[in-house]
Amino acid sequence: VTFDQQLQDFRSQIEGALGHYIPLHPDTPGRLVAAMRHALTAGGKRVRPVLLLAAHGGADGTADPIPAAVALECLHTYSLIHDDLPSMDNSALRRGMPTCHIAFDEATAVLAGDALLTLAFEILSTCYCSDPVLCCALVRELSFAAGASRLVGGQMDDVMMERNQECGSTSFAEITKIEDCKTGALFQCSIRMGLLLARKQHLLETGSALGQWIGRAFQITDDILDATGDEKVVGKTLKIDSRNRKVTAVGYLGLDGARSQVKAMLAEARSCVREIAPDPTFLLGMLDYLETRSH
Ligand code: IPE
Ligand code: IPE
Ligand code: MG
Ligand code: MG
Ligand code: MG
Repeated sequence: VTFDQQLQDFRSQIEGALGHYIPLHPDTPGRLVAAMRHALTAGGKRVRPVLLLAAHGGADGTADPIPAAVALECLHTYSLIHDDLPSMDNSALRRGMPTCHIAFDEATAVLAGDALLTLAFEILSTCYCSDPVLCCALVRELSFAAGASRLVGGQMDDVMMERNQECGSTSFAEITKIEDCKTGALFQCSIRMGLLLARKQHLLETGSALGQWIGRAFQITDDILDATGDEKVVGKTLKIDSRNRKVTAVGYLGLDGARSQVKAMLAEARSCVREIAPDPTFLLGMLDYLETRSH
């Protein structure tokens, strides 16, 4: 199979499973289900769950990675709903559609995010309960990555950086820390969960390094696309970083400098991939895809 076919196959496994796990308890308010489905809908690139499946590698005798991939995408989607809120980035377009708070309303968007965040842990704790050690390890990975010192902490620093612009500048090291937390944490978690499911604990450290390089490259590319992308292709409101007076790697390095940073980071990622994957072809293909993406 070609890289494109494999990517398509992983994505359709994830889309199918999202449909399978999302029908919720019949007592769930219809409006909440609709808002969760709206946010989760096709248009997401599913990069994190694809990386989880790729890091897992599909070997026999390992745990099923699909529920973990779904949990990860639910958690990521919650972070996007909240990131777009008027009190955060105040964005109107996401995944080619009106953001959750525009399509519904702010209270519904907050609650749909809360519900997706919680659902992620319900899925993990339900689907892996026959192996309590693995189950706890997965819950610990995802809760740590999503928590106050990582994703949410990065979002806090991101918001404060915007508010502090008048009082002083943000250093390049601070920007890198924000990238690592708000974005890198979930990429590290994707790779690490895939390795845990494949029972490859000895590779976790290299997996973390890989996730960090991918996270930085991904966020800088996101910032480049925010400045230069085509809204119809990217599917979200652009030029939002300058409107919100965000300091990003693009502001620091310029577009060309930022592009060469992305290349250098993905070169680091390639050497990690060769260490962790018995057959690195697909993961190397993902790094090429991340280097050239326009969406
Ligand atoms: C957007 O993530 C948020 C960032 C960390 C930059 P994606 O670009 O993966 O968004 P979707 O899931 O494809 O919509
Ligand atoms: C988002 O960074 C990081 C998280 C959602 C955790 P951005 O604010 O740049 O992401 P986009 O551009 O809205 O997708
Ligand atoms: Mg943001
Ligand atoms: Mg945003
Ligand atoms: Mg952005």
